[in-house]
Amino acid sequence: MEANLNGIRVRFDDIGRGPAVLLLHAFPLSAEMWQPQIEALRDRYRVIAPDLRGFGGSDAPPGPYLMDTLADDAAALLEHLGVPRAVVVGLSMGGYIAFAFWRRHRDKVAAIVLADTRAGADSDEGRATRETNARLAEEQGAGAIADKMIPNLVAAGATPEVRDTLRRLITANGPDGIAGALRGMAARVDSGPDLPGIDVPVLVIVGEEDGLTPPAEAERLAAALPGATLRRIAGAGHLSNLEQPEAFNAALLEFLDRLPL
Ligand code: MLT
Repeated sequence: MEANLNGIRVRFDDIGRGPAVLLLHAFPLSAEMWQPQIEALRDRYRVIAPDLRGFGGSDAPPGPYLMDTLADDAAALLEHLGVPRAVVVGLSMGGYIAFAFWRRHRDKVAAIVLADTRAGADSDEGRATRETNARLAEEQGAGAIADKMIPNLVAAGATPEVRDTLRRLITANGPDGIAGALRGMAARVDSGPDLPGIDVPVLVIVGEEDGLTPPAEAERLAAALPGATLRRIAGAGHLSNLEQPEAFNAALLEFLDRLPL
């Protein structure tokens, strides 16, 4: 499905019936990364999964795509669909957006799931790497980004199928979207000060072999959040939802099914 939101065309999935669950994807993928979760949730939940600005079938206007802008796009989508509140699920960049969504649209947040993500802003070195990668995307295209990123996104034992899926999703994106998100992530603020005030239920999920946002990072995140539960996913790296979908879905459904939605 498509909608015109905040001046751009956004493609999204809106599948199933029940309490709303908003899925915010990782960089540099698309809503398709959530396919295993959409299938697992659709019988009991209304699953709303946008291609974020710059990715998948959505428009890629000039960047940078600030996390605030991406959060406002997601809020506009909920408003467009007449959904007052949702459980906000974000993986990695999706988590950065979830923090911005909380700051800007907390009345729309029933609960939060933070997977393979961190609250902190980038270091100076991290910001410099983002700019290098943005230029790499602009000069050599998404394939160069896929080559550089895939080894770090998954566990060492990830299957060829998972790696192929990632390459297909990454290379379906254009350089403008990739560069826009990189520069937006580089500009994001530290969400650490917000954590003690997040007073909705939170589930933190991390792949045990996540090298980008490791389990120690998830432990710090969960410890700073009042009322958070932490679940570790064995045999998964950074993209725990794709690498171990059954374990990820079990953790997600156990959390969702206990919420007073
Ligand atoms: C992601 O998976 O969304 C990215 O690894 C996030 C990041 O680069 O910080």
